[in-house]
Amino acid sequence: MFSHSNPPSRPASRPPSRPRTPLEHFRDVWTKRTHTRHGSHPADGTVVDDDEHPPTPDNANSQTSSVAEPQWKTLKTKPSLTVSLKQVYDALRHARHEKESEAHQIFRSSAGHKPKGVLPQTINPDEETVPGIEHPGSTGVIYCSDRAIANGFSYAHEWANLGQGAPEVGDIPDAPARPTTVELPTDSLEYAPTTGVKALREAVASLYNINYRQGKKSQYTYENVCIVPGGRAGLSRVAAVISNVYCAYQIPDYTAYDQVLGAFGRLVPIPTALEPENKYALDIEQTKKDIRTQGLSVLLASNPRNPTGQVIKGNDLKELVGLSRESTTIILDEFYSWYIYPEKGEEYGNSVSSASFIDDVNADSVIIVNGLTKNWRLPGWRVCWVLGPKNLITALSQSGSFLDGGANHPLQLAAIPLLDPKRVQLEKVALQKHFKMKRDHVLKRLEKLGLKVDIPPTSTFYIWLNLERLPAPLNNGLTFFEELLKEQTIVIPGIFFDINPSHRRNLFNSPCHHFVRISFGPPLEDLDKGLDAIDRVLRRAKHEGMRAFGHSYKKSIEENILEEAPPV
Ligand SMILES: Cc1ncc(COP(=O)(O)O)c(C=O)c1O
Repeated sequence: MFSHSNPPSRPASRPPSRPRTPLEHFRDVWTKRTHTRHGSHPADGTVVDDDEHPPTPDNANSQTSSVAEPQWKTLKTKPSLTVSLKQVYDALRHARHEKESEAHQIFRSSAGHKPKGVLPQTINPDEETVPGIEHPGSTGVIYCSDRAIANGFSYAHEWANLGQGAPEVGDIPDAPARPTTVELPTDSLEYAPTTGVKALREAVASLYNINYRQGKKSQYTYENVCIVPGGRAGLSRVAAVISNVYCAYQIPDYTAYDQVLGAFGRLVPIPTALEPENKYALDIEQTKKDIRTQGLSVLLASNPRNPTGQVIKGNDLKELVGLSRESTTIILDEFYSWYIYPEKGEEYGNSVSSASFIDDVNADSVIIVNGLTKNWRLPGWRVCWVLGPKNLITALSQSGSFLDGGANHPLQLAAIPLLDPKRVQLEKVALQKHFKMKRDHVLKRLEKLGLKVDIPPTSTFYIWLNLERLPAPLNNGLTFFEELLKEQTIVIPGIFFDINPSHRRNLFNSPCHHFVRISFGPPLEDLDKGLDAIDRVLRRAKHEGMRAFGHSYKKSIEENILEEAPPV
């Protein structure tokens, strides 16, 4: 196993009995080249740089780009060699296997994340010792919190949690005051109906009619709304009533779909990889073809999409909704529908929902999931809803009766005034201005650090950051994540958005492997703290080289407690 306290040194020569790994081969080739030019021999892979000075905020961009691509800097005098070495480097970068990486081995050793068989499913006998019980694997966010706790995370102020999939919950400029009290009338101590309190269902229907369906003949009523205890509960209620059908989803998308889709054995999940070349847009024409040729009955997507920060809107959304009139149920998770960042002032306050394009609310098979978690910035309330045809709502009432028993009664009552359309409009404008400011700030700082974002988010509060231009091993999300934990900062490795990651034989093959998701949900000071941590890691890479990275990770909470305990 890997050493915890003594970082393995990386000798220039290996024992003759062991075959060289691709990385060692490349390191040797590179260090030889470096030696030829600089007259020194950095056998440990240290980045050779003429500039001895650390980057400053003013010149960080140019300096950290030498961190990003140190190899080519030393080789530019020989163009032909540059090309062939670059090709070798590219090949090796992709040829690496998760077995060589400490960060990946820690992931595999946690319950539910062992590689699984493809077909038929195999279970891990060491893990599954309770008869009949199988670990579903924790969602990415839970895995990341567990790893942060193993590294000493507490809710203390020193940590920057840029992994957090939640918006800041305090006051923001020009937004209505935050709720501070909750009434507890005696009736509210009873169970609420599994479809929710009628007055709240009415308020949800009315808000959607005002925001998205003005002038349309078919209007939502309370019978089209089911109140659920959180977005994931809503998705689980929906998944529980999907029958034995093919269900299309895309990669990357929200991490919990993995477990939600996996937990309900009847539906068969069918993935499609979204392409960065198309800005991770859903190809509607291809989707139509897939529906026809593969017999897809259900399509699930977050829109706006977590983690890419892109949104399907306008005509594309209209076309997607149109598929619901051709025997396909479209499930749209619209939790980020207000997090849209307009370029023009008059567009502030607009939001996006498929509800705008539905013809008949009871005939078009569109299922919308949303709630107070993100838009209202009240993740702790656990008050959300599913909107759809009446016959869906009766089915959800049934699945809710055995899955969760309904949402919190007093908080459903407290939510009603928060859905007042005038209040909502003020919230939307304030939220869009504040979060746009934070998005632009983070993008600017990342660019200064040499980490320009290829496809900046136009919605949500996430940045999908490609690390491919960094030297290995910092160029994979799981290692970058572990290195930032050492700096008391949390981001989410991209593999968690590759739905079903445990089933991959080699995580290095995942299209999300070279990414992390950075959240700009937290307050600005926390964002800066996290960006400072990224800056420190990159400076270290520049001055100490790669030998400082990829090892010495804390393995468990227990180990951390033992290590951190004061001597007695
Ligand atoms: C796309 C998406 N849907 C749903 C949810 C979950 O909502 P809840 O916390 O209410 O379960 C999240 C939270 O991160 C999300 O990103």
